[in-house]
Parts: sequence; C-alpha cells; structure tokens
Amino acid sequence: MTATAPPLGLLAELTHRCPLRCPYCSNPVELTRVAAELDTATWARVFGEAAALGVLQLHLSGGEPTARRDIVELVAAAAQAGLYTNLITAGVTLDAPRVAALAAAGLDHVQLSVQDADAAGAERIGGMAGAHARKLAAARHVTDAGLPLTLNAVVHRQNLDRLPALVDLALALGAQRLEVAHVQYYGWALANRAALLPTRAQLDAATAAVDAARIALKGRLVIDYVVPDYHAHRPKACMGGWGSRVMAVSPAGRALPCHAAESLPGFDFPDVRTMSLRDIWEGSEAFARYRGTSWMAEPCRSCDRREVDWGGCRCQAFALTGDAAATDPACALSPHHALLDVAVQAAADGGFTYREFARAAPPG
Ligand code: SF4
Ligand code: FES
Repeated sequence: MTATAPPLGLLAELTHRCPLRCPYCSNPVELTRVAAELDTATWARVFGEAAALGVLQLHLSGGEPTARRDIVELVAAAAQAGLYTNLITAGVTLDAPRVAALAAAGLDHVQLSVQDADAAGAERIGGMAGAHARKLAAARHVTDAGLPLTLNAVVHRQNLDRLPALVDLALALGAQRLEVAHVQYYGWALANRAALLPTRAQLDAATAAVDAARIALKGRLVIDYVVPDYHAHRPKACMGGWGSRVMAVSPAGRALPCHAAESLPGFDFPDVRTMSLRDIWEGSEAFARYRGTSWMAEPCRSCDRREVDWGGCRCQAFALTGDAAATDPACALSPHHALLDVAVQAAADGGFTYREFARAAPPG
C-alpha cells in the first residue's frame, strides 16, 4: 500500500453533546460547544469529498450523533454521496419514527452501545437514569426497521464479569455482531484508570467466555474481541496505522488521524472548512508525521513487526511517556512497558469521575 492510498473510512464526529456521562468517554477533555459545530451544508460537502477521495464507509459518531437535529439530512447526504453509513449511537434518543426516517434516508447499519448487561450496572456507568430501557427499545426499533444491528459493549473492571450476560443480551436483541471493546486509556478514561483496569483473572475468564461463545454461536453471532493493551505484550495497530486507513473529523471541522489526536501537542490539524479532504490526506504534515515507518526510533525501527502494528498508538505513547513518537508502552520491548504493570497493580474497585457536558449544552 502506498503512503497516499485513500482512507477506507471516515469517522465523522458530528457533536460532542451526549446525554450519557461515561467515565471512559473517548471525547477530548475539552469539548466543542454547539455554536462551533460544522453546519449541515459543510458536512454534506465533506461527505462528497470523502466519496471522491475513495472512502467507502462513513461512521457517524460523537458524542451522540442523534443530538444533531439534522441527523436525517446528514444521513441522506451521505447516502447520496454513495457512502456506506454506520450510525454509532447510545440509542437513548431513538424512537420508532426517528429510526424509520433514518432508514428511509439511506442508513445502512446501526452500532448501539450498552454500558452493562443490566439496568442498574448500565445506568451507574453511563450516569443516566432510565437509559438502559431506552436502549433496549431502540434496538427493537432498529431491527423492526430492517437495519443490521451491532451491539457495542465497552468492558472494564466493573462490568467484565458480566460478559456472558452481554452475549445473551446481544442475542436477545437480534444483533448480528457483538463488539467487545476494552477501554482505551487516554482522556477521561485515563482519569478513571484505577477504577477501570481489570485484573488478570477477570481478563482470563472473559477471554475463555468469548472463546466458548464463538464456538457455540458460530453462524448466529460474530464476536469481535481483542486482549487489552495493559495485559498484552505487543500493541495494536491503532487506526490501522497513522494516516493509513481512517480519517476523523471533529465536530468543529478539524481533520484528525485518530479521534484522540487533539490530545497531542505540536500539531496544527487541518480545517475541513478551508482545505479539501484530498489535500489534507495527501498533502498535510499532520497526516504524514507518523505515517509509514521512517519516523520510528528503536526498538521499532529494526523490528519485524513495524509494518504490522506501526509502533502502536501515538496517543497512548504520549499519554504515558510524554513523547508521541515513542514506542507504545503496550509493547514489551518498550523501555516504559513496566508502567502498565504498575497501573494494573494500582487498580482497585472504586468510584468514577464523570464527564459533565450534557447539562451544560442544550440540544440543538
Ligand atoms: Fe511493534 Fe515497535 Fe514493539 Fe516492534 S518494537 S512490536 S514495531 S511497538
Ligand atoms: Fe490516537 Fe491511537 S488513539 S493514535
């Protein structure tokens, strides 16, 4: 693959607004206010530019993307541009007419998040009373509308033991896929890391449960699951490699190589209001900085996995070492790898620090 092969996916972060307050939220700690969000026409132009660039899949995300009043128009614009559209939603704002309108506008797929397998656990984690029942209703509206459903479960110390119940929930809701995503530790999640990191025993039990479910449910439910960084010896190819497979656009129109990139210092990320997606992808310094392998130092530079994991995650490297160009400490070859063991040892059951945004921003 050449350095400028087109991205496969565009992650459109339509808004940072969200009625939930999950303590592992991947949004930046500094959130974009409503008045600074891109308008409908600009997003529609961006979708057209993405399709022309070669993007196939559009992930409509947030925050909560349905907090945008123009979400149906945005889906229609994306479908008209020829993009496969995936709505990544918490589901609490989705009633039957809204789902039907989204389906009619051309929506292809819904990815619904759940915080736990039961209401008490889910609502403690998400920080919103009544959210779980609304999510179950939203799942029914999605399947009633004939849309394929993926259930997305973010797992951690305080819900990982209920993974078998999450599998049962996915089946009961008619999901075709269950994405089990371990928390990634930057932003809000780093602030709550001690209360979120699972023990090795929890992880081993969860991995065994997934292995058993994959065999028992072959042909009925696909389960995506990978061992989390803090218990691994080699890192993941975050985003498939920097500037390699995915472009993200923030609510305010900043083009980013990953959703967390604004946490990195020393970047002037391009603005989609003033630069085309093609120029950003093919010509901007921000997307080129960690693309490929030429930026790497040892031990990555001479490692035979350098084009497998691309040195891991730049945001995690910066969050843990202060150097975004460092080898991801999730790699056992990193001189900072012991930091992860220390964090696992320090983890303990405890309360969360919740993000506070929903109350500060009215829907609009
Ligand atoms: Fe990946 Fe670098 Fe570790 Fe090699 S040294 S496995 S390239 S992170
Ligand atoms: Fe930014 Fe991994 S989240 S590179």
